[in-house]
Amino acid sequence: MILWRDAMSVGAPALDADHKRLIDLVNLTEQWIEQENWQQVGSITGELLAYVKDHFSREEAVQAAIKFPEAEAHKKLHEALALKARVLSDKFKAATTQDELKSCAVVMAKVLGDWLVTHNLKEDMRYKPFIPKKAQPPAAAAAVEIKTGAPPAESEDERKARWEKRHRDIEYNLPPNLAHLLKHIEYEIPKLPYPERRFESFEKLCEGAICRRVDSVLVFFQRHNPSLKLELPPFFLASPEFADKFRQAIGKFIFPAIWESRQIRMLSTSFEWAEEDADSFWEHVTKPLQDCILLGWNQGWDDLKLIETRKDGAKVMQVKDNTKALREMLLPSSPTAYDLPRIGNREIETFRSLLDPANNWWERLNMAWKSCHDLYEQEKDPRVFQQKARDGALRDNLLNAFQRFPNEWVDFLVLACHRVFPRVSTLFLESFITNVGTNDAMREAYLPYTMRYLRQVREMPEIRARERAEEAEWDARVKELRDFIAGREKEEEKKT
Ligand SMILES: [Fe+2]
Ligand SMILES: [Fe+2]
Repeated sequence: MILWRDAMSVGAPALDADHKRLIDLVNLTEQWIEQENWQQVGSITGELLAYVKDHFSREEAVQAAIKFPEAEAHKKLHEALALKARVLSDKFKAATTQDELKSCAVVMAKVLGDWLVTHNLKEDMRYKPFIPKKAQPPAAAAAVEIKTGAPPAESEDERKARWEKRHRDIEYNLPPNLAHLLKHIEYEIPKLPYPERRFESFEKLCEGAICRRVDSVLVFFQRHNPSLKLELPPFFLASPEFADKFRQAIGKFIFPAIWESRQIRMLSTSFEWAEEDADSFWEHVTKPLQDCILLGWNQGWDDLKLIETRKDGAKVMQVKDNTKALREMLLPSSPTAYDLPRIGNREIETFRSLLDPANNWWERLNMAWKSCHDLYEQEKDPRVFQQKARDGALRDNLLNAFQRFPNEWVDFLVLACHRVFPRVSTLFLESFITNVGTNDAMREAYLPYTMRYLRQVREMPEIRARERAEEAEWDARVKELRDFIAGREKEEEKKT
């Protein structure tokens, strides 16, 4: 799994977007390899090779435009990789047995992944100093200009001025009913408050730090778009009310299990805790202390699980009093506050997945979100001044999340996209689930909450009717916008 880092930026947004996309495609290939789905491996690598080719020509065009002195040598490196990739892909296509397919695919993903990262960090970085430092025009405009070839006499400043003028002209002349189509999508992202400090005891600090880690996941999933009119209540993890109740539940049922361990008390005596806050606590947590916390946490949740017994040959789930109390405690104040199924073992597993003392999920979740946001805009948002992503890019990125997060969270990520992005409709969800497993039972196992949400949706025909009307309106506006821009461009041409 390769992660994009800021250090990989070459200073040109269009080329950075290409590099990110290439990384995504390599990651996706690895994911399909793991699932031994050779058909998907074949189709994604086919796409990857095509994208590599496109990227190389874009990059070479930029190098020519910025007069990069090593452009010739760089082009040779590209050619060498293109050749190697073709050979590997032919070998994969010719493979017949499972073993052959697997070894060819693994080599191909490894070679492409390694090459991509080292080439990007070492070779692509060499042209970075030649990229003008000033703000770059958005990707599509840059890409279009590269493709059509700006006249060589034009300087970077002139090019930028021309682009800005064109952008301004179109924006100023946009009829008011279309203006919103050029705006970036807006939605609410709740902030994680500052970490608490000044705890009266080590125990309180430790509890505060655990709540903080859990909160960071809950707060992350609370993002939503208030302009979307959704008929159904949010899923439980997205609700601030649920977060409050969940914190209380941890205090009541889980902390006692953590403090039962004598070892944790011993470890705490070697800890200078007085100056630490709920975040910095984790920087000092040793591996044994981490393990202790996790052990207590898991024990606490396991103790709440329903027990399977048999009565007259039939399976009966026995519910403990504590679990009944937990159910009671996490109930929403009203049916519209949030949707939570009756708590069973699956829900308890989900609650358990919310803490991992070895991982701070906040940053990783936010990175994953950034790519969802970018791909949504590039794939589904029709604004003109940006690069376009291929169809299915957002879906593949979400599927990729199975590799990066506890399985349960993909469900939540998908539902969060639905609560934020207008065109991630319930129809998108319906089509998304078909990519996971071959039947509904498998889908239930991987995406229980999306499946649950869709069952509720199917009972409310008004949701589909609303979505269809919104989509039609969207299409009409986009057509109008395209016609308008085409008209403007013709006028411009006439003038010149
Ligand atoms: Fe590159
Ligand atoms: Fe390159």
